[in-house]
Amino acid sequence: MEPLPAELSRVLELAAAKLPTGRLTDQTSRLIDRYQSDFPAPPGEPIVADDPAATAYALYRMPATYAAVRAALHQAALAMPGFAPRRHCDLGGGTGGAVWAVADTWPTITEHRVIEQSPAMITLGRRLASAGTGAVAGTAWDRGLLDGSLAIPPTDLITISYVLGELAPELRQTMITKLAQAAPTVAIIEPGTKAGYRRILDARKILITAGMRIAAPCPHAEPCPMAADDWCHFAVRVNRSSTHRMIKNAELSYEDEKFSYLIATREPAQPGAARIVRHPRYAKGRVLLTLCRRDPQIEQAVVAKRDQEGYRQARRADWGDRWPTG
Ligand SMILES: C[S@@+](CC[C@H](N)C(=O)[O-])C[C@H]1O[C@@H](n2cnc3c(N)ncnc32)[C@H](O)[C@@H]1O
Repeated sequence: MEPLPAELSRVLELAAAKLPTGRLTDQTSRLIDRYQSDFPAPPGEPIVADDPAATAYALYRMPATYAAVRAALHQAALAMPGFAPRRHCDLGGGTGGAVWAVADTWPTITEHRVIEQSPAMITLGRRLASAGTGAVAGTAWDRGLLDGSLAIPPTDLITISYVLGELAPELRQTMITKLAQAAPTVAIIEPGTKAGYRRILDARKILITAGMRIAAPCPHAEPCPMAADDWCHFAVRVNRSSTHRMIKNAELSYEDEKFSYLIATREPAQPGAARIVRHPRYAKGRVLLTLCRRDPQIEQAVVAKRDQEGYRQARRADWGDRWPTG
């Protein structure tokens, strides 16, 4: 569980209170339909174009995108214990979920910058960030288009979360090539669908060819060993506030956000010997782990009770953790 920072939850609720619930519910169902269609949006024609849509986005999506980015960055921080970035740039930042996630992961950051095309997203993102502390409150918000001519300011870390699916394939390639030149560490987060995973695989190829190494989730830079009909993804549980449930017509008090991701870097990184790529399963005196190994291959590993230390770690391990967890 990666709960939203308390001050962010508070200011989100205040933003929700300014609009009639029916308006937010309509906007939410419109956005859900649009995002499910999984096709690119022409640059300069944002899907979220006005204040009610931005508020609906922030209420129903930001808790999930924040949690997914936070979970991915947590794995990066484990693989890169000496990494202490100062400058962060978030591309297609929407209402700024990644800013909050980066700030929580690396308090060394003194400068956040968001580049985003939608004025409505920027206005709300800025209002939300101003409720934060330190560098979050001082985030610079630039209205800008992700395209071949984008000049990315010098930075130690780029995040780009839930954006690649909105870019046409050629532009996506151009942008990833640009990212490899623009920052020593790049974090890409996408929905945990087959399409999202394929976009991550394409980006991975470009970043490795550009000389970057993978800090997470892959324990190697070889071709992905997942079976052709499978896809590498992870999940994080997200609390739903009562407003969230209401505007989404949802009953459960939580949802599981599935995501695929990649952290590529030129900094020192130790991705670990293997990654747990499914929920661990438990049997009497054994834990069954599906591992992506450095070799590379997918292994169904059995950790038995007689391996006392291994069993102790496996009982606590989660889908997405490095293995051994250490
Ligand atoms: C699904 S939202 C994700 C927002 C945020 N990164 C997050 O994780 O919550 C995609 C964002 O990318 C922005 N975007 C899409 N294409 C863009 C482009 N060509 N230039 C700038 N921003 C773009 C959209 O306006 C939108 O805010």
